[in-house]
Amino acid sequence: MTAARLGLVGLGHITVNAHLPPLAGLADKGLVTLQAFCDVDGETAARHARTFGANAVYTDHREMFEKENLDGVYICIPPTLHTDAELIAAERGIPVMVEKPQTLDIAQAVRFSEAVRKSGVPSQVGFMSRYYTTAAFMRDRISERTPRHALVQLLYSGRHIRYWTSRFELCGGSFVENTIHMVDLLRFFLGDITEVSAFYFYRKPGEGPEPINLPHVYDVNYRFESGVVASVTTSRVLTNVNASRREVLVVCDDSLMEWSAEKVVENGETVFESPAADNAFASQAREFVNAIRSGDASGLRNGYPQALNSLAAVLGANASASRGGTLIRLDEFVAGDGDRRDRMPADTGGEPGTV
Ligand SMILES: NC(=O)c1ccc[n+]([C@@H]2O[C@H](COP(=O)([O-])OP(=O)(O)OC[C@H]3O[C@@H](n4cnc5c(N)ncnc54)[C@H](O)[C@@H]3O)[C@@H](O)[C@H]2O)c1
Repeated sequence: MTAARLGLVGLGHITVNAHLPPLAGLADKGLVTLQAFCDVDGETAARHARTFGANAVYTDHREMFEKENLDGVYICIPPTLHTDAELIAAERGIPVMVEKPQTLDIAQAVRFSEAVRKSGVPSQVGFMSRYYTTAAFMRDRISERTPRHALVQLLYSGRHIRYWTSRFELCGGSFVENTIHMVDLLRFFLGDITEVSAFYFYRKPGEGPEPINLPHVYDVNYRFESGVVASVTTSRVLTNVNASRREVLVVCDDSLMEWSAEKVVENGETVFESPAADNAFASQAREFVNAIRSGDASGLRNGYPQALNSLAAVLGANASASRGGTLIRLDEFVAGDGDRRDRMPADTGGEPGTV
């Protein structure tokens, strides 16, 4: 293959700021052709096509798939807006990169996952944290230890930059929209999650600032297949200050490990620091393009079928919290045994079962 012809569906914040810069670099090296940009907003697609030198512009992904002979596709749209792009890509044997969260509908994710698995195309979900050099180091170090306990603490601050990420029914809440990255990273370190139980502090109607209707706090407990237990907490209360915090700890026998994008600390000592030029989005793009060009997907750390457990873990947390903390087994949740819908409690004014 000469250059991999890529189609990009959704030319919003993440595509333009995180995916296109490294892809443009790969295009300069002749490894990639930015073949088609597709956005329901045609002017947005056309503007970015001019900036990045894309060959064609579409407002409908079906027309794009019909007219273009693509080697790979990026699907980067808000999670409630997925329809059939993943299915078309899988049917046509086109490798697919889908941004997280894959969807808010676990049944849809299962359908997409099956299609991707059956077609055997290389696939990737946008869990870029797996591509930090510190993540690979941490994973290797944990494999030489006996992990028992993981703790993630995320305190988000600042205002939302997009309307849909301020609305529970459109983004699934901060735990689904953001904390999913760290839940997935725990899976990279520790393997699959089997059970979840969650308590949320829901925001009451009018308890501003508008238009936010997301829970204030998400307090989630996980059990991993290995027996490891984790506590993952998130709050979205610090709207008017710049005071975010992120802590990721893994407690092993005789080892307290702390992960951040920049370094790994063990028992208080820095044991690894990332190189200054570490760019997880660029590494993720490089591995995806490598997989397309070589047909060898072994360098991909976050295939669509493999990522289903991360999505189930966060949607399962929503479902548990909406049922007062009921324990949810993720295999049953994914298989559709029982009620998979999560509900906003009546006092938030949310519509039941619409997420
Ligand atoms: N990996 C990360 O760190 C990270 C960061 C931010 C966002 N994201 C994820 O990326 C996805 C996109 O987020 P964003 O911030 O770019 O959103 P955005 O709202 O900025 O952009 C979305 C774009 O998709 C377009 N669009 C919507 N439906 C479409 C369709 N059917 N076909 C073509 N275009 C369509 C919109 O017009 C818009 O231009 C979300 O799932 C989000 O969670 C990931």
